[in-house]
Amino acid sequence: MYSILVVDDEPDNFDVIETFLSNQDYQLYYAANGQEAIDSLDTYNPDLILLDVMMPGIDGIEVCQQIKTISKWQAIPIIMVTALSSKSDLARCLNTGANDFISKPVNAVELRARIESMLRMKQQYDDLQTLLKLREDMVKMVVHDLRNPLMGIFLGLELLLSKDYPQEKQNRKLAQVYSSAQALQLLIDDLLQVALLESGKFRLNLTAVTLCTLIQSATSNFKAIAAQKNQSLVSQLPEEFSRAILVDATMMHRVLDNLLSNAIKFSPRNSQIVVKLEFTTFGDAKIQVIDSGPGVPDALQQKIFEKYEIGTLMSDVSQIGLGLAFCKMVVEAHGGKICVRNNQPQGAIFEITLSGC
Ligand SMILES: Nc1ncnc2c1ncn2[C@@H]1O[C@H](COP(=O)(O)OP(=O)(O)OP(=O)(O)O)[C@@H](O)[C@H]1O
Ligand SMILES: [Mg+2]
Repeated sequence: MYSILVVDDEPDNFDVIETFLSNQDYQLYYAANGQEAIDSLDTYNPDLILLDVMMPGIDGIEVCQQIKTISKWQAIPIIMVTALSSKSDLARCLNTGANDFISKPVNAVELRARIESMLRMKQQYDDLQTLLKLREDMVKMVVHDLRNPLMGIFLGLELLLSKDYPQEKQNRKLAQVYSSAQALQLLIDDLLQVALLESGKFRLNLTAVTLCTLIQSATSNFKAIAAQKNQSLVSQLPEEFSRAILVDATMMHRVLDNLLSNAIKFSPRNSQIVVKLEFTTFGDAKIQVIDSGPGVPDALQQKIFEKYEIGTLMSDVSQIGLGLAFCKMVVEAHGGKICVRNNQPQGAIFEITLSGC
């Protein structure tokens, strides 16, 4: 509900405004003079101020000037309510930073229209602020998540370069460095590709691709990372191994990378992850990435495909919420579908359906 602060030294005028707005869903507050209005801003946090010009003490023009110099209140639209009618007086009102004015005696229809117009503007401003804040938070989070694997790489390399590092541990450390580099690459690629897809400038590079080969390549890239959690990564491929369909191989590879990275990241140690491909009787290709992790609650199964939606917060894993948004954009650009369902007895099944023709 929007809140409106009415500033007028004459309480009767407030009663008139209250009557005019009685059918509207606004929370009205009243201040009887300029100082009271300024002092009450922190308490009421109004979305709009209706400000009488002629008041004893600080007049409306000065109140408006003062409010507009305080940055946290600058964006509140101020409508001056004035008995003054000369053009120079009205110009004086607007020059103080007032957003609009309305003449006394106030007309109910005009008052409602001007309030609505100002509130629309305020709403747009608030939405933009929320978006900017989200962007700022995201940048902080992304930078943090880029630093983590980078630190892992540096730390691993330092150990590998030190003379005393035991030879028998080298392969394990190399695998860790490799997986950190892979996480870094996936995140950077997702960020760049989502921006490209959103710009509308992206074009699919469709070629006849053997999905079995694509799946084998993706799973083999993630074997080392899965091994670090002692997870087994297996693929179940159909007999028609060499059957090809038209896809953008690089993009679809990245989609699989994201689904595999999620399955590994969100599943417990010692569990199994299966990548399964089937060709349906209609000739469609159905790819499933099946895990036995925590799964995705029904209420979040659509939401997690939106940008920066991280679903259930989990500890000790990086959650930016970009990967699945990227997957959805790519799959839909192919005319396909992606969804998640529940695995039994527990876990998630991410399923992609691509048309075979
Ligand atoms: N296999 C899965 N099991 C359980 N939850 C999952 C799984 N895959 C994704 N999720 C949930 O969906 C959210 C969104 O996934 P998404 O891949 O878009 O982002 P992310 O993994 O958090 O970050 P990134 O942008 O690095 O991929 C995750 O944060 C997680 O809560
Ligand atoms: Mg992910």
